[in-house]
Amino acid sequence: MKKNDSNKSEKSFSSSSINWYPGHMVKAQNDIKSAIKLIDIVVEVLDARIPLASQNPIIDELAQEKQRIVVLNKADLADEEETKKWIKYFESQNKSCLAVDSSNPQDIKKIVSEITKKGEETYKDKVEKAKLDYKPIYRVLIAGIPNVGKSTIINKIAKRNAANVSNKPGVTVRNQWIRVDANIDLLDTPGLLWPRLDDNNAGEKLALTGNIKQEILDLEGVACVGIETLLNIDKYKSMFLEKYKINEEDIDSLDSYDILELVGRKRGCLVSGGNVDTLKASKIFLDELKAGKIGRISLENV
Ligand code: G4P
Repeated sequence: MKKNDSNKSEKSFSSSSINWYPGHMVKAQNDIKSAIKLIDIVVEVLDARIPLASQNPIIDELAQEKQRIVVLNKADLADEEETKKWIKYFESQNKSCLAVDSSNPQDIKKIVSEITKKGEETYKDKVEKAKLDYKPIYRVLIAGIPNVGKSTIINKIAKRNAANVSNKPGVTVRNQWIRVDANIDLLDTPGLLWPRLDDNNAGEKLALTGNIKQEILDLEGVACVGIETLLNIDKYKSMFLEKYKINEEDIDSLDSYDILELVGRKRGCLVSGGNVDTLKASKIFLDELKAGKIGRISLENV
């Protein structure tokens, strides 16, 4: 971090960063509350790289009585070892947990079959007691904070573009259903939760994984936090050094801002006088981190 900029990144993670206003939060909570009344199964989508920072505790409160499935999405970008530990963590809370890459059709099938399993459990007694042939429909809500991949998952399960416009803060969840399987109805708009921006570290992690839009951030501050984070973990440090072709001994006495400059030099982000365009370097680094181009990196461990 640039020496005289020590509090810069804090400013960049304020709750206004993601366009949530108190009114939006109340509205989102009310939307989820009314939707959940109609629901049998809640699929909570989290970012596999930051399962805690991408979680909103309100879902535990509102969905207590419901069948629960946790989907660790973007698992293709996360550290496999850490993801395995997270699966065990959520299973220890009596939740089903699946790690998925939503572009993989097999992973989408896994979600559908877990929904079916939960539905069968929910209606087992009713089906057994029913005298006539009774085929229940399992009603499902896909919930999560912005950008974790809710719409992608809904659209893949529904095999069409069902979810898009209403996946925004302040837009009401319309109660329309999509029949996606003989037994499954999906609410056509995702349950939108707000991220936990009250916790500053959560804000940093959301920024580093691209869950907060770059335009509204202090990119150099975020990039410095990202570099510090990677350098603190041996495995990720090696990935970083390899990616930017930096020798370990060359960064011994450097702070994160100096290292950002070095990344800029390596990538040709130079301006007149041989200075480095650190904003450009930050964008390159953050885009590559977010897209998994430095490697599969998880920013939280159990
Ligand atoms: P949302 O409804 O929860 O807001 O999320 P949405 O489906 O719109 O997905 C957000 C971004 O995440 C999209 O990229 C989408 O392609 C990407 N994404 C979703 N699932 C996965 C996954 O399993 N793996 C990976 N690697 N990416 C996934 P985008 O439109 O390009 O947005 P952005 O990445 O520029 O933010």
